[in-house]
This record gives sequence, C-alpha cells and structure tokens, in this order.
Amino acid sequence: METTLIILKPDAVQRGFCGRIISRFEDKGLQVVGMKLMTISQELAAKHYEAHKERPFYASLVGFMTSSPVVVMALKGNNAIAISRKMMGATFGSNAEPGTIRGDFGVSNSFNLIHGSDSPEAATRELELFFANGELQDYERAIGSWVYDWSGGEPE
Ligand code: RTP
Ligand code: MG
Repeated sequence: METTLIILKPDAVQRGFCGRIISRFEDKGLQVVGMKLMTISQELAAKHYEAHKERPFYASLVGFMTSSPVVVMALKGNNAIAISRKMMGATFGSNAEPGTIRGDFGVSNSFNLIHGSDSPEAATRELELFFANGELQDYERAIGSWVYDWSGGEPE
C-alpha cells in the first residue's frame, strides 16, 4: 500500500470544492489517513516546491500557495500515487481532460486546484513536511474487505 500527499490548493478551498474533491477520492476507494486545514508558511512552501526554485513561475507559485488556507490530506491505497495523479489530470486546467479534477473544476493554468505527490520518494518527503510523527492514522475501514479482493492474502 502507498500513501500520497494531496493538497487542495487555496483556489479549491476558496471556491468551495473541497467536499466534492474529497468525495471523488473516497468514492474511488482511497482511504483518508490524514487531513487538516492549514495555511502554508513561506518556509514550508519553499521546501515543498524546492525542485522548482529556478523556474520563472516559482515566486508566483509560492505566493499563491501561501495566500489562503489549504486542505492537506494523506491518501492510502494500492498505487495511490498514480491513481491520484490520474484523477487530478494534466497540470494546466486549460488542457486537463474532462472527468479529471483539474479538467472539471477549473480553466486556469496556475490556479489548478490540487497537488499530488508524483513518486514514492516525493510522497515520503512531502508527508514528512506536512504531517508530524503520529499524526497519520492507521485504522481499518469497515468497507476495507469490499474495496479490495483479499482472497489471495494481498489487496487485489
Ligand atoms: P503539483 O506539483 O502542484 O501537483 O503539479 P504538477 O506536478 O502537475 O506540476 P509541476 O510541474 O510540479 O508544477 C507545480 C505547480 O507549479 C505551477 N506551474 N506553473 N506557469 C507555468 O508554466 C507553471 N508550471 C507549473 C502549477 O500550479 C503546478 O501545479
Ligand atoms: Mg509536481
């Protein structure tokens, strides 16, 4: 099982889409194991987006991400990273496919509603940035035995 870091960006919170976006992940069967509303500090945004430090859009990206509260979530599931990225859609709202979160809720390229870790290494790093030790919840869901086929001993 993988756990990925999702951020519902300031535009998603301000436009009132958190419930609908979270529902998509719940409907899919991914398990919410961490969630909070917070305002990202300059320092945290800089760490989170340090790979983009030299890019022309970096300053406006950090400005946007720190401008208003976000919802950060940890989602757990088999292939949770790739599944979440697929559900998010392409980076830019202008060309994200209909049916994806970015494709259905926005048209902007920079206000693109959601972040998701793009690799297992990024997920580990980002989960540590946003959640303190012990903050993620390890719990069995009542529906767990119906979301996956466990007959082979592994979730299928
Ligand atoms: P994210 O990191 O937020 O999940 O998005 P992503 O992987 O799809 O895209 P990434 O290349 O990592 O870019 C991070 C965020 O920077 C903004 N961006 N603006 N104006 C531009 O050319 C540009 N390119 C990227 C977007 O907000 C993107 O989500
Ligand atoms: Mg990225």
